[in-house]
Amino acid sequence: MTTCVGVDIGGTKIAASVVDGRGTVLRRARRETPAQDPDQIARAVAEVVGELVGAVGDGEGVAAVGVACAGLIDRAGETVVFAPNLAWRDEPLKARLESLVGLPIVLENDANAAAWGEFRFGAARDVDDMVLITLGTGVGGGIIDDSQLLRGAHGMGAEVGHLRVVPDGHRCGCGNKGCWEMYASGSALVREARALVAGGSPHAGALADRCGGDPGRLDGRMVTEVAGTGDPAATELLEDIGRWVGEGCASLAAVLDPALFVIGGGVSAAGDLVLSPARSAFARHLTGRGHRETTPMTLALLGNDAGMIGAADLAARAHG
Ligand code: BGC
Ligand code: NA
Ligand code: ZN
Repeated sequence: MTTCVGVDIGGTKIAASVVDGRGTVLRRARRETPAQDPDQIARAVAEVVGELVGAVGDGEGVAAVGVACAGLIDRAGETVVFAPNLAWRDEPLKARLESLVGLPIVLENDANAAAWGEFRFGAARDVDDMVLITLGTGVGGGIIDDSQLLRGAHGMGAEVGHLRVVPDGHRCGCGNKGCWEMYASGSALVREARALVAGGSPHAGALADRCGGDPGRLDGRMVTEVAGTGDPAATELLEDIGRWVGEGCASLAAVLDPALFVIGGGVSAAGDLVLSPARSAFARHLTGRGHRETTPMTLALLGNDAGMIGAADLAARAHG
């Protein structure tokens, strides 16, 4: 059984853990993500891996390190070509990390890694075809087709967050306008919540109270918390996200016809507040509805660990 380290580099934190061959997390560590500096991000990853590897006792040596990153990675798994929400541009992350860490590094897109984690050990254990959607800073996608990760010719497939859902819509970090992640992400939730509070409507009273009247302080967690008390405005904001999620998944089902959709990322902490409207919108927009079964949509079972665990397992398969 191969033990590996899995690392998930997100916009705000770097989460890492030692993972055994059954997908069990044995030990964890984390760091803040150094803002927008590729050099410092690499050094922080090396530090956190060093901390974990140093703590691993005899007989459970770490074979390799799987690294999940929020960006487009080349087919060779060497370079982060572009990251819409991070500072990587043609970043030779594999070589850089290998020289800092001294272990083999396997790079994978964060949502692909999470899909793999859920497929191997989580909510999608029992299916061969699934789509995982992460709702966080961006919207990520991971597609398992016939038990294989779909990568595409250049390694950059499954970038579902950049499907255009609104012609001439909001400008996205990728440079285009109207991408799905401008409407279904945690960032979209926060943007809409802040705009609602800034507008001063009495309807937004509970949200305004929660952030002490300063819309800039509102975050996604606060919206979910206020919605949890039954507040209509916060509930509507999450419903809107859910509707975008469901409509987008219906389009994906038209192409991929998966057995299951798994929803992860920060916004998924809202549970049914976002999942119920997503399921209804999906059923309402599914191609051939009325003539086929609806596709189940469920929450990620591994939660925020999915990317880390999936990356570790991919590293174990490459270096076991
Ligand atoms: C990026 C993807 C990433 C997703 C989730 C998107 O903006 O293009 O590569 O998987 O965010 O982090
Ligand atoms: Na992906
Ligand atoms: Zn985009």
